[in-house]
Amino acid sequence: MSKLFSPVTYRGMTLKNRVIVAPMCQYSAKHGMANDWQLVHLGRFALGGFSLVIAEAAGVLPEGRISYACLGLWDDAQIAPLQLIVDFLHQNGAKAGIQLAHAGRKANSPIPWRGGFNETEAEKAALGFESWASVAPSPERHTMSYPVPEGLDVAGLTRTRDGFVAATKRAEEAGFDMIELHSAHGYLLNQFLSPVANKRTDTYGGSLENRMRFPLEVARAVRAAWPKDKPAFVRISVTDWIDGGVTIDDSVAYARELKAIGYDVVHCSSSGFDGATIPVGPLYQVPLAEAVRKGADVATAAVGLITKAEDAERILENGQADLIALARQALDDPNWPLHAMRDLVAGDTYGNWPLQAGYAVRNKDRALGTAR
Ligand SMILES: Cc1cc2nc3c(=O)[nH]c(=O)nc-3n(C[C@H](O)[C@H](O)[C@H](O)COP(=O)(O)O)c2cc1C
Repeated sequence: MSKLFSPVTYRGMTLKNRVIVAPMCQYSAKHGMANDWQLVHLGRFALGGFSLVIAEAAGVLPEGRISYACLGLWDDAQIAPLQLIVDFLHQNGAKAGIQLAHAGRKANSPIPWRGGFNETEAEKAALGFESWASVAPSPERHTMSYPVPEGLDVAGLTRTRDGFVAATKRAEEAGFDMIELHSAHGYLLNQFLSPVANKRTDTYGGSLENRMRFPLEVARAVRAAWPKDKPAFVRISVTDWIDGGVTIDDSVAYARELKAIGYDVVHCSSSGFDGATIPVGPLYQVPLAEAVRKGADVATAAVGLITKAEDAERILENGQADLIALARQALDDPNWPLHAMRDLVAGDTYGNWPLQAGYAVRNKDRALGTAR
């Protein structure tokens, strides 16, 4: 029996299988509002058989967006278009999640496919271009391409924590089944955790305990604002891949605290700061998910260059992770779970396709002699 295609339950959310879509910024929102693009982009993964679709990093405050074209959850008006997406995912057999994020000093990032800020004035008006003063633990810029951020004072920390809480409540209003707290990739919470970005001399900087303080305050407030019967995931960069940065041991300690607060799954990514040496290759982050799972005794999601069904199955069988998250492979093949099921599960699996497609794909495969 395939483990990848067996159900799993976190609090009140039962996933029909263990393959989920990792959050992916689409840089296609205006003033933080979701639109038809997100509906179709996310909706196709439900049609493709993913059990849980996590919507992209949504800025909990306007200044917390990664770019001017990122989703937001700082305004009640942003709830309704997300609700449509949640409904579509539910109608098509998937659970719906959203990542709650604050970019900190990595706000004001350019849109990747533009390669920089080259919007004309006409495009700026059409795209809803905005730029703003960014904030961070310390007034240290990410790279020379980013502005120097303001160091957060007590009022700023409170505003940020409150922003996370208010966004959590809006995610609940929109009907999401889970939230994922973004504490990875060199964004705000990761900036607090990492000595690479956190140069504070108050109780929020210095020792690991101090550097974890603000992320854990946010994590606690978010968990308290999120219904008890709904799971909360947290995404972390298990290692910065930088000498003097966050280590696997630091992350195991952090994951233990997060589990104690009530986080159900730690989604194990890595890196996010300039100067990292990353051993990129197939499955390269799986050992990180395994280390956190074993070290902190917590469920983990593995992510990063997982492309093959047999690899996904083996990761689960070996006890390295509890869930498999796909990002680029899902873009490449939005029907990845349906195709993987054909490889891993005995018998006719076409019944798992949407009604509108399953019979037709079966007929096509029978005609070609490739049906199972
Ligand atoms: C287009 C794109 C957008 C992304 N946006 C996010 C995001 O919003 N939040 C996040 O935590 N990671 C984001 N990521 C990282 C992915 O979730 C994932 O961790 C990474 O791509 C590695 O997985 P993969 O090899 O399956 O693509 C993004 C990746 C891509 C390719």
